Amino acid sequence: MIPVIAKYMLSRSFSKINFTFKPMDWQELDFNGSKFGLYLHVPFCKMFCSFCPFYKVLYDEKLKKKHVEGVKSEVKLRGLKGNASWLYIGGGTPNLLEAEEICEILAYLREFMELKDVGMEGNPFEFTPEYLEKIGDAGITKISMGVETFQSGALRAVKRAKANESLVGKIVDVAQKLGISVNIDLMVGLPKQSLEGCLKDVETIASIGPDQVTIYPYLLIPGVIASPGADSQSVFKTIESAWNILKENGYKRDSVWVFAKSHRIYDSAKDELVSDYFGLGPAAFSTCGNIQTVNPPIELYLHILRNSKRLAFYTELDEKAKTWRTFAHELYKLQLDPTVCNKLPLNIKIILQLLRTTGYVKGFNVTDKGRYLVHEITKTVVETLPFPLSNPNRIKNISEYEEILKKVKLQDA
Ligand SMILES: C[S@@+](CC[C@H](N)C(=O)[O-])C[C@H]1O[C@@H](n2cnc3c(N)ncnc32)[C@H](O)[C@@H]1O
Ligand code: SF4
Repeated sequence: MIPVIAKYMLSRSFSKINFTFKPMDWQELDFNGSKFGLYLHVPFCKMFCSFCPFYKVLYDEKLKKKHVEGVKSEVKLRGLKGNASWLYIGGGTPNLLEAEEICEILAYLREFMELKDVGMEGNPFEFTPEYLEKIGDAGITKISMGVETFQSGALRAVKRAKANESLVGKIVDVAQKLGISVNIDLMVGLPKQSLEGCLKDVETIASIGPDQVTIYPYLLIPGVIASPGADSQSVFKTIESAWNILKENGYKRDSVWVFAKSHRIYDSAKDELVSDYFGLGPAAFSTCGNIQTVNPPIELYLHILRNSKRLAFYTELDEKAKTWRTFAHELYKLQLDPTVCNKLPLNIKIILQLLRTTGYVKGFNVTDKGRYLVHEITKTVVETLPFPLSNPNRIKNISEYEEILKKVKLQDA
């Protein structure tokens, strides 16, 4: 009953977030020297996996070059300066950019600000030893790559190429020798995927020994095509069994789906949920206090950079949605921060107390029983995140937006 009520309240508070597509000042989000992070979206993929809802376009050499130039113009136009506490380069598939292009973007960013803690995502096929060496020299300290599963039938069902064990092992080995820590993403609940097989996947990955393993349940975010291969409770039980295997192999549980040996955690979702950040590149989110903006898709993104007028999706988060998100984030970590909890509004404090009396939380720790609740709540948070590009229902003035997009496509054709 409690998981159902909590899920209902969360999805209600998130379902109200809608965006307006409108012109904005380039420097509208001003962090005033306060702490901020950076996210750079690289939207290219050579194939589209049918489980993936994230904004992506088919890889094209010329478009990729324009993207690199576009990002540099955006950095300048948005007046970024100061100290970025983190930078995640996500996608899409960021390692479809040449290592030299990653170095070029990082060097350009450093002309305007200091960068700490730089991580990048990628697929296992492009992380060659030479690539790793170059990005390591440019200051990348952590990488994250999708393996998802070694089960061939499931990979065929989601239209994804298989990265075999020896390739993955070699990347981990080379990266670690260069001082780059590695996260590997696995997924549970894909079509044609056996849950027993998922535990074998975890054993294989544990024997390779990356610094971190993230095990995602297949999340039904708007935009996904693949049908789920298992129900949420069975997926959760599989992740719990995976935890036993990882524990025996020296991993600690950092949050409900993240297991790590090192302290250099690759968890962009965690950082993005709680701190203000600038998003660069097409479809990137930015958050500053209550204001959230989302960049337009690549054709419009490149167009506005050439025309020096910023068009973006804009919304203001209400206090309720923000406090629910903070509470969900505290639960996600499995260990709640007393200082944060003390600042929560009374209605959420009452829910926390209820979770204690029903045995889901003990003091400030989520109990074994509580982990299923946290799994369900985190799923709800992610599945109801307001992505305007994959979920046009979230755009208030959709016809205006579509009209502008059509004009730009015609002009550039
Ligand atoms: C956006 S991809 C970027 C990495 C790179 N393109 C790759 O595929 O290896 C990052 C990760 O998101 C996860 N992911 C994508 N769609 C998901 C979904 N619907 N549910 C859960 N995880 C998902 C996958 O584990 C994937 O490795
Ligand atoms: S999972 Fe990675 S490779 Fe597959 S479509 Fe998404 S971003 Fe592209």
